[in-house]
Parts: sequence; structure tokens; C-alpha cells
Amino acid sequence: MTALVIENLEKVYTDTYTGDEVVAIGDVSFGVEQGEFVSVLGPSGCGKTTVLNTVAGFVRPTSGTVSVDGREVGAPGPDRGVVFQGHALFPWKTVLGNVVFGLRMKGVKRREREERGREYLELVGLAGFENRYPHELSGGMRQRLGVARVLANEPAVMLMDEPFASIDAQTRRRLQEDLTRIFEERRPTVFFVTHDIDEAVFLSDRVVVLSQRPSTVQEIVTVDLPRPRSWRTAVDDPGFRETVARINGLLAVDADRGQESGDRGPGDDGGGTDAG
Ligand SMILES: Nc1ncnc2c1ncn2[C@@H]1O[C@H](COP(=O)(O)OP(=O)(O)OP(=O)(O)O)[C@@H](O)[C@H]1O
Ligand SMILES: [Mg+2]
Repeated sequence: MTALVIENLEKVYTDTYTGDEVVAIGDVSFGVEQGEFVSVLGPSGCGKTTVLNTVAGFVRPTSGTVSVDGREVGAPGPDRGVVFQGHALFPWKTVLGNVVFGLRMKGVKRREREERGREYLELVGLAGFENRYPHELSGGMRQRLGVARVLANEPAVMLMDEPFASIDAQTRRRLQEDLTRIFEERRPTVFFVTHDIDEAVFLSDRVVVLSQRPSTVQEIVTVDLPRPRSWRTAVDDPGFRETVARINGLLAVDADRGQESGDRGPGDDGGGTDAG
């Protein structure tokens, strides 16, 4: 079953200062199957966050539609869980309190929600930290708590916008492996935004490669890398290297095209291939 469908999405923003119109998303269509991990990849400013925010219901499309489980998205809702870049935890609540908050809102009984909360903390490697507060955790741990909190609500689609961007490279690798293991165990439906090619390929079943602004789908690349995945095996996997190279090529050609036609430069095209 298709959990998320984006059809002919277009988004035009009006610049608050100049009044100019900015066409962020030209025409974007793709779907995410239930239990599938799909990443959206593209140069900086191409509209990745805008696509995610439209799915979350924070941004209204100019035209086109977004539906989750067959229902058109009009506003934020508990069927879509967003993992923010670590700033959305309640600092006055304990780790367990943060994880069970959504369940409490849904009216789940205390015993059951604490049981479920502990289960998800265990899953992300935070067992034993139930009674700590967010400020007592490292950045990586807070990110894992953000993941646990969204997973505990069992949303139809989990939305993640560069959740590991501000984390050091080594910890990031660990978090990517953690997320992969959790995905392989639980099979949530994940919509992940990144400009790091290696990260997208390592995590995903399919990668949606966007062009520069106004963005369109350049290509949807299927990742042929067996699961369970780990960085140790991925870096030597010819399929992994080939897919990374192919996406690198797509983005480079797109960047050249943008320069030739006198558009804005390629910006940070996230040639973020920090894999050794
Ligand atoms: N609220 C807004 N008002 C006006 N313009 C906006 C707004 N939000 C985004 N934009 C513009 O839309 C375009 C796409 O922005 P968006 O944040 O979606 O890109 P992105 O691909 O996520 O970039 P990055 O990789 O840097 O995170 C950019 O040119 C941005 O300046
Ligand atoms: Mg963004």
C-alpha cells in the first residue's frame, strides 16, 4: 500500500521584503510505500524542507496535492510524526515524559504508555536514562530521543529533515546505523530529507533526486544494498559505490546546467560524500 502520495506539488513563496515571487517547487510527484524508507536529496535551497513541511501540514501547496493513507493533508496531525533537529524536546520533562507525551495526548492509559515508552527507549539505546532531563543528554542522545518519541506514537509516516546534520561525523555514522537497525526491526514508513549522498544511499530503499530550484524530480534511484546494513559492509559494496557515483553525476550535471542558463549557482550541492 502507498502510505504517502505527492502529486504535482508546486510551491511559490512571496518574499516578505521584496514582494518577489520565489518558485521553490516546480513540479514534484512521487509516492512512499508503507514500510519503505525514501530520501529526498537535492542541492541547498531546492525545496526539500518545503516538500517535507507540506507533508507535515505546516506549509500549504500552491497547487497539487499530498495525501497520507488516502486522505489529503490539510493541517498537521498525529498520523505524521516529525523528528526535528533536536530542538523540539520538552526541557522540563524527563526522557520518559518526553517519549510518552504523544501517547498521553491520545488518551493511552499510564501503565500502557510507560510500558511502550520504555520499549522505545530500549530500542534507541536509551534504557536507563528514563528519569534524566534532555539537558543531561549528549546531542546524539537527544536525537535518538527525538526518534523514540516519534516512533512511540506509531505514525503512518515518519518525517525527518536532516536530523543528523549538526552532529559530528563519527556519531552521525552511529546514529545512521541505529536508525537503519530500528527501521529493519520495525519497518516504519520514513520520509527523510538530506543533502548528504552517502547518508541517503545508506539509509534508503529509494532516493528521490531533485533538481535545482524550481525543483522537479530528476530521477528516483532504487538502492540495491542488502539489509541488514552496516557502514563496514556498505563502503566496500560495489552497488553502494555505484549508486553514490550515479547520484553524484546527476547532481553535478544539474549544477552545470544551472550555471549555463545563468540561474543561481549550484550552492552547497552537498557533495557530502564523507565516506572513506
Ligand atoms: N517562508 C518562506 N518565504 C519565502 N521563501 C521561502 C520560505 N521558505 C523557503 N523559501 C525559499 O524557498 C526555497 C526552498 O527552500 P527550502 O528550505 O525548502 O530548501 P532546502 O532544499 O530545504 O534547502 P537546504 O538544503 O538549505 O535546507 C529557497 O529559495 C528559500 O529561500
Ligand atoms: Mg532544508
